[in-house]
Amino acid sequence: MSIKKTIVDGVETFEAEIDGETIQWDRGLSYARHLQTEALLNAQVPVSDKPDEMLFIIMHQTMELWIKLCIHEADQAMEALRADKLGKAEKTLDRIATILRHMIHSWEVLATLSPHDFLTFRGFLRKASGFQSHQYRALEFCLGLKRADLVLVHNDDAEKRAELERVLHAPSLYDELLRLLARRGFEIPADTLERDFSQGYVPSDEVEDAWLAIYTSPGENWDLYTLAEKVTAVEYYFQEWRFKHMKTVSRVIGHKTGTGGSSGVNYLVKALDLPFFPELWAMRTRMSAPKEGGNYADDAAKDEGAKDEGGCPLGH
Ligand code: HEM
Repeated sequence: MSIKKTIVDGVETFEAEIDGETIQWDRGLSYARHLQTEALLNAQVPVSDKPDEMLFIIMHQTMELWIKLCIHEADQAMEALRADKLGKAEKTLDRIATILRHMIHSWEVLATLSPHDFLTFRGFLRKASGFQSHQYRALEFCLGLKRADLVLVHNDDAEKRAELERVLHAPSLYDELLRLLARRGFEIPADTLERDFSQGYVPSDEVEDAWLAIYTSPGENWDLYTLAEKVTAVEYYFQEWRFKHMKTVSRVIGHKTGTGGSSGVNYLVKALDLPFFPELWAMRTRMSAPKEGGNYADDAAKDEGAKDEGGCPLGH
């Protein structure tokens, strides 16, 4: 067993026969340097000597990494939307939905933490809580759920606060979608398109009508229709993540208050009702079955659940 050393393009390069394979590496870039494994694997710093705290730390850290990727991908999706590259936006949204599904499954690992396991170290956590996750809040803001008061908990960290303020004041993924609908000729109110983006989004009938028109005649705006379904999937899985978190918390701490000071499970249940893309959900109630060759927007208007002014704003 020997290592053969050569210089390739001025870089020391190594080769060895291992298990019948010719394995190579060089000093240009190693796995550890590229992936910063030293920093990553030294970032687990328990505050107790209780063995189950490691699971708790790694669960949070892996979720934080996935949230980081979701934010990165959401930025890409917004850039694609601004450039009217709908196929690229769809691909990116698909990736976010897949990451969220993976995160949902990973709650199963944390569910192996019994109430007793958690109580062995809960006291050491003091007031530390996921409520203080600035990335989670940034992702909520970036998708479209703006709640300015939540920035307060980052008051003593100027860098994180500034980053959150930036996302708070910027148009969200939903804002970019509505701008796209406006560019495509749908009547989106001016005060929806140009507003103070740091304020919570107020749903409008016109936006709901626009989505209804797209869903009523998918063939006419196929790209917007498939895009809307990808966007809906992101919220669908985000809500499922919230639900699994709430159920896991309920399994581990019951109805105790949270380390962050909230009512705990009750607080998390309330969060299940916070939408990112409200009209994309509301519009579904107004839909009815298409008649072959007919106009089912008219049917939707007749439907009991439909609004008085229902029907397709494009006059189809
Ligand atoms: C045994 C494990 C866990 C327990 C008991 C727990 C408990 C809680 C509780 C009670 C809250 C409400 C705020 C508070 O008063 O503290 C909360 C919020 C939160 N937790 Fe967890 N959690 C756990 C694991 C996790 C993990 C692994 C993550 C992943 C990052 C996470 C992320 C969050 C986030 C982002 C919030 C804020 C939710 C919102 O404001 O809507 N939690 N958690």
